[in-house]
Order: sequence, then structure tokens, then C-alpha cells
Amino acid sequence: MAAEKIVILTGAGISAESGLGTFRDEGGLWAQHRIEDVATPEGFARNPALVHSFYNARRVQAAEAAPNAAHEALARLQRDWPGEVVIVTQNVDGLHEKAGARAIHMHGELAGALCAACGQRWPAPMEMAPGTACPACTAPAGRPDIVWFGEIPYHMEIIAEHLQSCDLFASVGTSGQVYPAAGFVQEAAYSGAHTVELNLADSDISRAFDDHRIGPASEVVPAWVAELLASL
Ligand code: APR
Repeated sequence: MAAEKIVILTGAGISAESGLGTFRDEGGLWAQHRIEDVATPEGFARNPALVHSFYNARRVQAAEAAPNAAHEALARLQRDWPGEVVIVTQNVDGLHEKAGARAIHMHGELAGALCAACGQRWPAPMEMAPGTACPACTAPAGRPDIVWFGEIPYHMEIIAEHLQSCDLFASVGTSGQVYPAAGFVQEAAYSGAHTVELNLADSDISRAFDDHRIGPASEVVPAWVAELLASL
């Protein structure tokens, strides 16, 4: 097991115990807001103020949130495991980094701003407003650096390379309802990886996994990491 490469996909469930809402659980974000209004380019074009207020509220909440034992356990694994440990996150909350881990953000980050005109990126202010000027091209085209529905997730090439070369693939806190992330388990399994799902409940993709750890991430993730490190 020592030199094994591990790839871990995380979703909103890993941050639930840090007080950040998930999307599809009871009362989740998609029960409070229509995706087409706040998480699509068309929604942003139609009502940029509404979209900015949605992300401003989440940006403030994420800035005030603390990583939980699950984020900390993955950071420990990344630090103490002799092989490569790659975290690919669908989350935009920055909690992996706050726990001291490095993560590939396939859906962007709340802490980032993007110019819709020239593609320039810069650190987002806590509150963005319609007409935010781009520091590079000065166009009033600043938007949250978040991948919206209908847009292409970031870093897909390097993620595919990691999935094709990993020995162990884990998924933490995701419902498996949004592709391409929901297909990562098949890509990893096809390349020979052992796969494990760590989640509060069964997901849409549970049957694709070899192994399952059902429970809150703050409990099942530290236990799983302890088991891996004890196997060295
Ligand atoms: N511990 C572990 N898992 C949990 C916990 C918890 N404390 N609380 C909830 N979960 C699980 C739920 O059972 C569910 O399977 O986390 C999952 C959350 O699913 P979603 O709300 O659909 O979030 P996610 O899978 O990350 O959504 C994927 O959809 O809307 C887009 O871009 C958005 O990145 C997001 C993507």
C-alpha cells in the first residue's frame, strides 16, 4: 500500500459539518434558489445583482467557516502518506486549503473573481457588484470565478491523468448527480483503482464503488485515514 497513489473527490457533504449548506439535501441551496437564476451564465446576464448577492452571501459564510475533522484528516493524509495524494474538489469554499491541504478546484473558488471579457483572474473582494471593473482590461465584466451549469469544469485534463494513474479512489460527501465528477469513479475503476465512497447516505453512484463508509464525514473520514496510515 505504501507507494499507492490516492485520488479523493470531495463534494458539499464534507463541508456540511462546517456549517456550509449542501445543494440537494433537505432545505439545501437548490431548494432556496433556482439554479437557472443563480448558477448559469444566462441567469448572470439576466440579473447580475441577484447572482452577485447569492455568491456574496456564500463568500462571507465560507470566509467565516472553519475546516472540520474531515478536511483536517485529508490534509494529514496528504502530508503523511508516502505516495501522491490528489484532492479534487467540487467545492468552492476554500476549506481544504484552510486545513493545510492542496486541492484542484474543478468548479472554481468563491475567493476568485474572473473577467468575463478577457479571462483575467484576481482575488475576489468579499462583496462583488454588477459592473465590477476588470483590473486588466477595465471592462465592467467582473464575475465570480465559479463554473456554472453549461460551462466546462476547470483542470479536466490533469484530473483525467490522475484518475488514470491512481491505485485508490475515494469520494467524500457528494450525491453523484453532477457530471463529469459523478463519472470519476468509473474512470478510476477502469484504470484498476480500488474505489471507496464515504458519505452520509447512499448516493446516485453508490453501486459503482467497491467499498462504502456510511456516516458523517467528520467521523468516517478520520477513521478511514487512520486505517490507511496504520497500514504503512
Ligand atoms: N457527511 C458526509 N456526507 C454528507 C454530510 C455529512 N455531514 N451531509 C450531507 N452529505 C452528503 C449527502 O448525503 C449528499 O450525498 O453530501 C452529498 C451532498 O450532495 P449535493 O448537495 O448534491 O452536493 P454535491 O454532490 O457536492 O453537488 C455537486 O452540484 O450544484 C452543483 O456545483 C455544484 O459542486 C456542486 C455539484
